[in-house]
Amino acid sequence: MKILAGNSNLPLARAIAGYLELPLTDASVRRFADEEVFVEIHENVRGEDVFVVQPTSFPANDNLMELLICIDALRRASARRITAVVPYFGYARQDRKPGPRTPISAKLVANLITEAGANRMLSVDLHAGQIQGFFDIPTDNLYAAPVMAADIQARYGEQDLMVVSPDVGGVVRARALAKRLDNAPLAIVDKRRDRPGQSEVMNIIGDVQNRACILIDDIIDSGGTLCNAAQALLDEGAASVTAYISHGVLSGGAVARVDKSALKELVITDSILPTDAAIDSEKIRILTIAPLIGEAIRRIADESSVSSLFD
Ligand code: R5P
Repeated sequence: MKILAGNSNLPLARAIAGYLELPLTDASVRRFADEEVFVEIHENVRGEDVFVVQPTSFPANDNLMELLICIDALRRASARRITAVVPYFGYARQDRKPGPRTPISAKLVANLITEAGANRMLSVDLHAGQIQGFFDIPTDNLYAAPVMAADIQARYGEQDLMVVSPDVGGVVRARALAKRLDNAPLAIVDKRRDRPGQSEVMNIIGDVQNRACILIDDIIDSGGTLCNAAQALLDEGAASVTAYISHGVLSGGAVARVDKSALKELVITDSILPTDAAIDSEKIRILTIAPLIGEAIRRIADESSVSSLFD
């Protein structure tokens, strides 16, 4: 088994390789003067089971291109099996046509990864489980929930917990986390905009009075969804609001928005390389999912069960 890293999250790739007690494959993934990606693998990979670690986070297009070119290099070097390890799958939010004459970019990206030569795909908390079906190669979708649940039990286990989905679409994810927290009760934030141009009204479904609320979502991007939900929960009498989010996209002024928000804490994973602003923020804490991904890779290589990681 070999682990090859692109440039998008080298600390995570190193931590995964460390978990597996393997060195990273000796390779250079660099740029020509005009920004074209150039990959050179400096060791023999013929007949090897190779895992390419490359989340397609910001800059999404450059990181995607690196992933595709790494896969192409491995295929042409006769690797036996190539697994694209994409802890954060960029373009996942474009998983359906929101209107006429719009693309389904998540499907296009899945086609590109497959056509480049990947034999398997491994990701974490895909925006929608159905995205697995966009790949015609075996695709494992890992869940950060066990890592989050352990942290929540350790930090907030003594309090009256309530798991909250920030929108109706996230209820399945929230229910799965609540189950891991001894069947904690569930609330839902229902966002409504009665007419275009009117500001959003947040209705809370469930009694959050005096509860330590745990908001759970797959992505924090601008931070708008979470910061507004946190304020709405406090307005309804919640004792505190903490957010656990799988992928800290945190674009633009998101970190500043979180710092100023009513959130007690924002906990993200290292599926995306955190920016300096996120690392320096007193409200943001980062949990590592390197052992989770490392263990899944070990099981894929051994051909043993991956799903039993979540039993
Ligand atoms: C949307 O469906 C996702 O699950 C997140 O709720 C969304 O991407 C968060 O975006 P933002 O942080 O920009 O509100």
